[in-house]
Amino acid sequence: MAALRLVCLFVVLTIGLVHSLDIPKIKDVPLLVKTLKNLNRGPPHQVMTKRVNILEKWITQKLDNFDASNTQTYQMRYLVNDEFQTQGSPIFIYLGGEWEIEKSMVSAGHWYDMAEEHKGVLVYTEHRYYGQSVPTSSMSTDNLKYLNVKQALADVANFIETFKAENPQLANSKVILAGGSYSATMVVWFKRLYPDLIVGGWASSAPLLAKVDFTEYKEVVGQAFLQLGSQQCYDRIKNGIAELESMFANKRGAEAKAMLRLCDSFDDQNDLDLWTLFSSISNIFSGIAQYQSNNDIVYNCDYIMTFDDDATAIANFVYWGWGMGRCIDARYQGSVEYYLWGVENFDASRPWYYQTCNEYGWYQSSGSSNQPFGTKFPATLYINLCGDVFSSRYGNEQINVNAANTNAYFGGMEPGVENIYMTHGALDPWNPMGHGVEQGATIIANASHCADFSSIKPTDSEEMRASKEKLAGLVRQWLA
Ligand SMILES: *[C@@H]1O[C@H](CO)[C@@H](O)[C@H](O)[C@H]1NC(C)=O
Repeated sequence: MAALRLVCLFVVLTIGLVHSLDIPKIKDVPLLVKTLKNLNRGPPHQVMTKRVNILEKWITQKLDNFDASNTQTYQMRYLVNDEFQTQGSPIFIYLGGEWEIEKSMVSAGHWYDMAEEHKGVLVYTEHRYYGQSVPTSSMSTDNLKYLNVKQALADVANFIETFKAENPQLANSKVILAGGSYSATMVVWFKRLYPDLIVGGWASSAPLLAKVDFTEYKEVVGQAFLQLGSQQCYDRIKNGIAELESMFANKRGAEAKAMLRLCDSFDDQNDLDLWTLFSSISNIFSGIAQYQSNNDIVYNCDYIMTFDDDATAIANFVYWGWGMGRCIDARYQGSVEYYLWGVENFDASRPWYYQTCNEYGWYQSSGSSNQPFGTKFPATLYINLCGDVFSSRYGNEQINVNAANTNAYFGGMEPGVENIYMTHGALDPWNPMGHGVEQGATIIANASHCADFSSIKPTDSEEMRASKEKLAGLVRQWLA
């Protein structure tokens, strides 16, 4: 994992996004937030093989797309790659999600290759409240009322109309969309709300169903370790975590704290602290499974199996995964303080957390017994955070109402859209919230989250290659 981190850091630095790396220097990121940031970091960047001239541009958007009397505006950023542009070029828009946009998605990979084939112009739009497209001076709960997917989709609709109006060459161009993870969800929902603005879209790993207690997620993480690792590895995770739980439950908390190198302030008599800890333990495994490729899981399982006993193995492994340090701050209150600090200090973790409370839930809990990560991180942990960080109105009942409203508005598993190609990795923990084969999606064996954005390449599995080719065929139909 250390090697993987270095590669990521290298990619980030080479494309010049040092901005987001500044945050840990300003304030130490508490354990749970750190592991969640890792899970919400956005689709993997593409490997750029040549120098591409990317234009950074801005468009004026309404702060509130649904209130004609509110005339406030903000600047939304987007990136353009016009190297193939000609009269009437189709427009290939990659949608940003809860992350900062970056050059590689419009400079390399399968989306780029298809744009080249069709002489398309490539665009990457930034989602309001993320990256540099921040509409309000602070992230107070009141200001965040302008942050929701309906506003973001209306921004995209306005973007398409404005972009065409500003580029007479493109006035009659066809538009197609792509997105990964949450921005894949946006592709599907955009087609539902604005069917005439695009001819088709590609949604890689799109969750469609809002669900507060997302118990299936950890089941698939477990399956990934079982299928790509081994039964021994799976058992070691399961038994090691069970052993740590039982130490805390049986007056051996001090010993467990020492094994996990937790700071003294950690209170093992406090459920919220314990839940924060066990959630952060499981999130190390989620982080590996969600973006695994090649032999990541084999490699990590080999390391886990080098220790003498299960609990020691898990304690050492997660300590390493957490980035080590003198002592580990796993207090619940640390997460609350960090998200509150985000009111005045821009950090994408706060707006995304807000969206989960307000629209989706998707709390990856220990609620299923069919997973190896124990029983100590109920969705209640995450629901409590909503209340403590944003407003006491976000209790269990309200968050369930919010998720139900999202499903009612967008159709949940039945979005009712045409000409949207949905792909999922069979071992992507998000896939239970999206379409399956019966609904027309393509499920790629062994693949993880957003794993299919790279160019067609010799190391692709047969299924991966077939899916990329199917998409290329659909794009030809849509643009014909
Ligand atoms: C999936 O991975 C397993 C373990 O590496 C391998 O045995 C299997 O052939 C793979 N399946 C496909 C369809 O690639």
